[in-house]
Amino acid sequence: MLGILCTAGWLASVLVGQFVDCGPELHRLGLAVHILALVLSFGTILVVDWLGLLWLLGKVEMHASGKLEATAKPLIWGGLALLLISGALIDPDLTNPVTAVKLVSVLILMLNGLSIGPAMHRLLALPPHTRFSELTHGLRLRLMIALTVSQACWWTAVLIGLINSTLRRWTGA
Ligand code: HEM
Repeated sequence: MLGILCTAGWLASVLVGQFVDCGPELHRLGLAVHILALVLSFGTILVVDWLGLLWLLGKVEMHASGKLEATAKPLIWGGLALLLISGALIDPDLTNPVTAVKLVSVLILMLNGLSIGPAMHRLLALPPHTRFSELTHGLRLRLMIALTVSQACWWTAVLIGLINSTLRRWTGA
């Protein structure tokens, strides 16, 4: 259900971005919001994924990372919603294959974030001192894949965004 909602939000953002021209004023506002929303959600993701990695490596207790993930959710998803809305205002160029890769990464990172929910619930039900090595093989694999996909997609989206806007400034397009 949430997956459908996310995909619909993403599709709406891409379609509005493609077909609605918002004018220079809204464009400037959109870009400012895009960058602020990026700080909000990507900043939070870095801390959550970093603590998750420290727990995988046995350096912190599980509940530290599980609880942080739960409390950080509104910041991450609020930031993502703002990224979708502001992205639609700043004319994404879907004919640019690099931009298409960025937008697909955005969809994947959202669906990946949703799909890890049940595994996080199972984790939080375990005793706080549980070590990563004590989990079932399936759960361990699931968490490592989620962490890798999250980081790969976030960095792809951020770097493509930065490269696109830098190229645009250089070429004056
Ligand atoms: C996880 C989600 C996203 C991240 C991390 C992200 C990241 C970024 C970054 C870092 C920039 C560069 C800003 C600058 O230096 O001025 C950028 C620009 C941009 N983003 Fe996003 N973005 C996301 C989602 C979206 C979405 C959903 C859309 C459109 C539907 C979008 C469209 C754009 C556009 C059009 C630009 C301007 C590129 C240019 O100047 O040519 N972004 N984004």
